[in-house]
Order: sequence, then C-alpha cells, then structure tokens
Amino acid sequence: MTEPAIDLTDPDRFVRGEHHAMLARLRETDPVHWHATGPGSGFWALTGYDEVAQVYLDHTDFSSESGPMLGGSFRSERDPSAGLMMVATDLPRHRMIRQQLHWAFSQDMIRKVAAQVTTLVEAAIDRALADGGCDFSTDVATELPAGAVMAVMGVSHRDAHELIGLTRRMIGFRDPYFADPTEDERLILAMTQADIFEFFAEVLRDRRKNPGDDLVSRLLGAEMNGRPWTEDEILYNCMNIAVGGNETSSYTACSGLEALIGHPEQYAALRADPHLLDSAVNEILRWSSTNLYVRRGALRDVEVGGRTIRRGDVLTLWNVSANRDARQFTDPGTFDLARTPNRHLSYGTGLHRCIGAMLAQTELSILFRKVADLPTAARLAGPVQRLRSNFINGTTSLPVSFGGPRQKEARHA
Ligand code: HEM
Repeated sequence: MTEPAIDLTDPDRFVRGEHHAMLARLRETDPVHWHATGPGSGFWALTGYDEVAQVYLDHTDFSSESGPMLGGSFRSERDPSAGLMMVATDLPRHRMIRQQLHWAFSQDMIRKVAAQVTTLVEAAIDRALADGGCDFSTDVATELPAGAVMAVMGVSHRDAHELIGLTRRMIGFRDPYFADPTEDERLILAMTQADIFEFFAEVLRDRRKNPGDDLVSRLLGAEMNGRPWTEDEILYNCMNIAVGGNETSSYTACSGLEALIGHPEQYAALRADPHLLDSAVNEILRWSSTNLYVRRGALRDVEVGGRTIRRGDVLTLWNVSANRDARQFTDPGTFDLARTPNRHLSYGTGLHRCIGAMLAQTELSILFRKVADLPTAARLAGPVQRLRSNFINGTTSLPVSFGGPRQKEARHA
C-alpha cells in the first residue's frame, strides 16, 4: 500500500492526528525536507532535533522577520510586523525590545500572576465540581491566560476574557468554529488583528489618563534608542504577548489533561506524588508541543543536515517532531511524567526562546497541582474537538467529568 503524500499545510491532517506519522517519516528519511507547495515554491521542513536546534541557535544566518507562521497574512517576504513586534525582529532591535518587555516577566510579576491564577483556577474548579464537570477548554484552561493578562496588563477579568476571545479567533482563523470558512484567510487575520489593536488602543487611552503598575503604562513612559515607543510598537508588542501567551498555555493545559486521562497510571502517579509535578509539567509541554512549528528565513546560503538552504528560502522548525526524536529522547512515544532530562524544544531555544516560559511553567504547575488533587480523577465526558490548525495544537472542546451530581453539556459537540 502506498503511503499518503506528505502535506504539512493541510490543517485537517493535523485535526485527524496524521501529522505525527508524516513527521516521523520525514525525521527518519529526510530531516531537512524541501516541501513543495507549487511550481518553484515551497519551504524547508526541519524535523530532526539537531537540525531544528541548529537553526534556532543561528540568528545570524536565519531571520525571524518573515513572521512566525506560514500562510495567512504572513505570505509576503517581509511581514508588516517585522522590526516592530519582538517575535518578528532580528538583532540589534530585538535586544532593545526584549530588555524593555522583561519587566512583565520578572519574579515580582510571576508572583502576582501566580496569586491571580490560583484564585481563578480554584473558583473554576469549584464550579466544575459543583456541576459534576465542565468543558475544560473554555471553563478552566482559559483562566490561566486570564490571570496573566489581568496581572501584566492591569485589566479586569471580563476584559481579559474579551481579549482571550479575540486571540482564540486569531489563532483559530482556519477553524469554522471561530471564523467563516468562506471568508479570505488574510482578511480574517487582518480583521482580528484590528480588533486586538482596538482593544489595546482603548487600554492605552485609559493609561494615558490613569497610569498604573502595568505593562502598557510602563511602555508609554519608556524610551527606545533615545525616543519614546511609538503607538504601533506598543500595540504590536502587547499583541505579541497576548497571542504568544493566551492560547499556548491554555491549549497546553488541555493537551495535558487529555494525556493524563489517556494514561491513567501516569495520572495516578501524579496524584500519589506531588514531587512529580515539575517533571510532569515538562513532559506535558513536550507531549503537547503546542507551538507545532516556527518559521525562519535564510539570510544567506547555509548547510543544514547536508542540504544547502539558499538565501531567501523559508524554513519551518517542527518542534513537535524534534520533541519526538529518538536520538534525543528515550522512548519518545511514551508519556512519562518522571522523564529527566527532558530538553524539549516547546519554548524554542536561542535568542527568541519564549520570554513567557517561567510564567507558563507557573500557570501550568498551579493548574496540574489542582487537577492532581481533585477528589476523584477527571474522566472524559464527550467528544474532544481539535483546533483546525497546523500551527497550534489546540483543543477547542474537552468535556470532562469531575464525578459530581450533574454533567455539563459540551460547548460545541
Ligand atoms: C505553554 C506555553 C507556551 C509555549 C508552548 C510557548 C512557545 C513559544 C515559542 C516556541 C517561542 C519561540 C518563537 C520563535 O523562536 O520564533 C515563543 C516566544 C514567545 N513567547 Fe511563548 N510560549 C508559551 C507561553 C507564553 C506566555 C505565557 C507568554 C506571555 C505571557 C509568551 C510570550 C511569548 C513571546 C512574547 C515570545 C517572543 C519572544 C522573542 O521573540 O524573543 N509565551 N513562545
């Protein structure tokens, strides 16, 4: 029987979970693969751990200025956010932006986020316990970014959820649950970006009058290269933090709970031993690989894994595949909460390594401590719905039962 053709651009193949087999085939036979998309067009798909790490660590030869993902509004050579939004910026500008955003990820801020997330997650789990269950994706997982957005941006719980609704729509631009499939994808992305900008423009208007102890107020008073930040720079970087943090942590939470339910012996081990929590969170991050790939552009001709990448070529670094490379991980297909070492690439590595990594670890640790301490282990209570995306591994509906009196209906079965 012939194997189906490789196509890493088709989101439906990801929804059906076929990407693991496609990526494993590439990793074993062609870890630096030219993925044609048409006559004379295509991109490189890097699937081996070493090859992916090499490109992440080489920010001299590989640029981030073509934006973070394939397709959508990011088809052009230079993304409109290039040089403005941290994730789409190269040195030396990247360093200036990152230094100034660091405040939002300091130890003080992490403590503030931890307190906020603890309160919200406890309340959400109490509600779910009273109801006997919940849709974990919408009712509990979204409280992780809500806590972070409230602390970092200084907005209310309600506004945080409004923003999360917008970023979910942006990340879900190919999913009919979030966006009309008959609309042009570029248009959907442009409109969602405009809504996110409008959200932050409103916050900016308020903070000009009422400055507070939050990132927006800080950026309004900050200088870069001896001049104030422009409004565009503030808007793009607030959007970067919101889009970078909202869906990644909440969808990782969903994949983690689903994996625990699917591996009851691992779940039981976590319930029995709180010391497993740190390694468990890292294994959940590896297993989920929520940010499936990142994109780079070659600035000159470079050799990677014996292939010559030409100047101007587009590359995709498949975190989800590197995280299952048997040359790096023993039994990579085993979900092992005690796995150490676990040098997963879920946060990337090098210059652009996730600035929110500590924040995400904190949010996920709080959540999985609570999940481990539930009176009875959570169980699946309905069909799981996956996000239609080849970029983010998401779960848009995860109906679970917490063993109480009533079972809540799934959000969109
Ligand atoms: C499980 C959670 C998370 C995952 C899997 C994740 C994944 C990633 C990855 C792979 C990158 C590297 C992008 C690249 O190299 O092009 C990145 C960068 C980034 N992440 Fe995260 N992230 C998570 C949580 C967060 C949180 C909570 C925030 C903020 C609140 C955040 C904000 C950012 C930002 C702003 C960048 C750009 C950093 C730079 O360009 O220097 N992320 N993230």
